[in-house]
Amino acid sequence: MNTLSFLFVTLELFFILRSSRAADTIRPSQYLRDGDTLVSSGGKFELGFFSLGNNSSRLYLGIWYKTIPVRTVVWVANRDKPILDTPGTLTINGTGCLLLLGRNQKVAWSSSQQARATTNPVAQLLDTGNFVVRSDEQKDSNSETGSSHYLWQSFDYIGDTFLPGMKLGTDLKTGLVRRMSAWKSPYDPSPGLLSFEIELNAYPEALMRKGSAKFFRNGPWNGLRFSGAPEMIPNVVFDFRFVANSEEVYYAYQPSNESIISIYKLNDTSGSGIRYIWIEAEKTWKTYLSVPRDYCDSYGLCGAHGICVIGDQFPVCQCLKGFTPKSPEQWNIMDWSDGCVRKKPLGCGIKDGFLKFDGLKVPDTTRTWVNKSMRLTDCRRNCLDNCSCMAYAKADVRGRGSGCVMWFGDLVDMRQIPVSDQELHIRVSLSEMSKDSNIGNGCNKEMQEGDVELPTFDITSVANATNNFSVDKKLGEGGFGPVYKGTLLDGQEIAVKRLSLSSRQGLNEFKNEVALMAKLQHRNLAKLFGCCIEGDERMLIYEYMSNKSLDFFIFDRAKGKLLEWSTRFHIILGIARGLLYLHQDSRLRIIHRDLKASNVLLDNEMNAKISDFGLARCFENNQTAANTTRVVGTYGYIAPEYAIGGLFSIKSDVFSFGVLLLEIVSGKRNRGFYHPSHDLNLIGHAWRLWKEGKPLEFIDDSLSKDFNYVSEMLRSIHVGLLCVQQEPDDRPNMSFAVLMLSSDTILPQPKKPGFFFG
Ligand SMILES: *[C@@H]1O[C@H](CO)[C@@H](O)[C@H](O)[C@H]1NC(C)=O
Ligand SMILES: *[C@@H]1O[C@H](CO)[C@@H](O)[C@H](O)[C@H]1NC(C)=O
Ligand SMILES: *[C@@H]1O[C@H](CO)[C@@H](O)[C@H](O)[C@H]1NC(C)=O
Repeated sequence: MNTLSFLFVTLELFFILRSSRAADTIRPSQYLRDGDTLVSSGGKFELGFFSLGNNSSRLYLGIWYKTIPVRTVVWVANRDKPILDTPGTLTINGTGCLLLLGRNQKVAWSSSQQARATTNPVAQLLDTGNFVVRSDEQKDSNSETGSSHYLWQSFDYIGDTFLPGMKLGTDLKTGLVRRMSAWKSPYDPSPGLLSFEIELNAYPEALMRKGSAKFFRNGPWNGLRFSGAPEMIPNVVFDFRFVANSEEVYYAYQPSNESIISIYKLNDTSGSGIRYIWIEAEKTWKTYLSVPRDYCDSYGLCGAHGICVIGDQFPVCQCLKGFTPKSPEQWNIMDWSDGCVRKKPLGCGIKDGFLKFDGLKVPDTTRTWVNKSMRLTDCRRNCLDNCSCMAYAKADVRGRGSGCVMWFGDLVDMRQIPVSDQELHIRVSLSEMSKDSNIGNGCNKEMQEGDVELPTFDITSVANATNNFSVDKKLGEGGFGPVYKGTLLDGQEIAVKRLSLSSRQGLNEFKNEVALMAKLQHRNLAKLFGCCIEGDERMLIYEYMSNKSLDFFIFDRAKGKLLEWSTRFHIILGIARGLLYLHQDSRLRIIHRDLKASNVLLDNEMNAKISDFGLARCFENNQTAANTTRVVGTYGYIAPEYAIGGLFSIKSDVFSFGVLLLEIVSGKRNRGFYHPSHDLNLIGHAWRLWKEGKPLEFIDDSLSKDFNYVSEMLRSIHVGLLCVQQEPDDRPNMSFAVLMLSSDTILPQPKKPGFFFG
């Protein structure tokens, strides 16, 4: 081969290689046709024509990841102007306007007309996924910093995907708002209902809307993160920043490590915003975070001045301290939309004060005022001086915190969050101020020591009554220590609960019981005569119950025979009425939390008396549930939502009552129940027999199946099953349970019970 032909072959090869390497630019008089693509210089992104689903007659121009085998479209030019039934062509005209041509070269879409037309324009797909139009005199630039010199850029028109380097927010100089909008459906990229943007309030916040309605609020930027986004901490996936100055307000992010691909995407179908990470090893996108995170993220769920606290299966709204539900009846059936109103009107000026709350997503910032340099003390004074200022906080929580934000008007859309670095100071009347917890938990105030009006016994008389706490006077061990029998000088028999000195928890339970029992009186509650507090000694003195407790009878074959049906039914009704009193009729609303056979005492006439209030909690009359991280109670009786999620309510007591009912009818314990042919517990056994139409087999053998009583027994099983249903909402309240037990009303069919496996 001679030199010349060698040169030809080389040249030929060079041109083949060159033409097969896709370009990243397009210039006037160049055309990108259906099937051609632009590929960014680093090979990350590709721009071209595509169609969705089976609908190849609708053609779109878009950008997708070149490196990711799952087609992931991140931007669409002609979202709501597909090219119909014809190949498309992209070009750029002499003044830098992108033109998407369809049938007969008609313009189907164009980039918005340029104010700054250029003589030598070029469109380029950058390695960030940004498709830009610039003048050819400018060097091609992948850097974000140069973005202002672009004549046009796709990053200004965010679709459903928020890419690293994009800015979500507003350019204050040009007025350009960059917001996300979801696709209408997976097959229609035109803008759907869901959008996400940074609202330009005095205190800017991230907000998702459905149509024009607020749907989910991530909250204002507090210097570290959006107030409602406790998970926004430095992480290995992405770095984020928020910029607010006189020129622009925006949120943006970058990958923490260039090898990690993550995007944030809105989805109309699922009504959510999702951060995905590309998992190369599995060739799939994985969800990193999805918002709304839970039901408490639903905008304004709890109405004005309400706080959403997440429970196991459903959220719970509480009124801020100092506030009470506007519509108590609605509130009780978990319609919280009317929110809460002040218990005491504001006095304005010096007659008001502020209660401090933390661990909250701060309220909607639509009506706020911000000063970035004002100190908190001045912030407070300014707020106090302006009668329409309802709350204030530090505007920026970084370091020791700085700045001042004030809220005007109703405070809406607050929820509990697990971080507490932005204290919110809420204006209340001075008369509402007190030192205890600020989330409205009922009768705290009434449970303070010193508030108790109980007869006190001196230690000598109690020691004398119990023969100096002798072993033979010991009745057993109660919740927080031994219980003794005693006889007072006047012959009155008493039971003395003595707090073990070692028990710190016991001390709390003791105080709790004293505080509650002093307020309660009902013939189906154990009667507290008084207490004895001397030195380290803490004792409770109760009326003595000659028949001890229910468990002595029903779980004992011999004694069980003594407890005929009419007595059992009398006991059932007694417990039901006692519980009804606690839940509804007493001045306080009390959740017992530890209802079980051993806590039902029996007097000499076999009247049931509910005892042991050490774990009980009281609610405000309007509160229906609360959450605890310390689940107490007794397995076998405890409701699933409480055991698993720590959520207790009157309905968790109803669950325990249902278990008790089934135990009384069957004479068997739920816990430790054994059946040779299945491994269900007593609840499951009852449910199974019920569904098989054999409920009679559930009834205690030692009960004579007197025809007159059988319907009452079956009714009791039926009500028992209604009370232990899985869903708290399905369970009856105690007034309905009493009604069902004591009348012939038609009963609903029970649904699946909770915890029916042993
Ligand atoms: C939205 O979510 C649905 C269901 O998860 C999914 O099938 C669909 O592809 C998603 N749409 C987009 C545009 O990502
Ligand atoms: C980035 O991620 C890659 C792959 O996971 C890892 O090997 C590399 O060390 C990371 N680089 C940095 C700076 O963290
Ligand atoms: C209270 O603050 C609001 C909002 O900044 C303002 O419009 C109003 O004039 C102020 N009222 C008084 C009495 O300062």
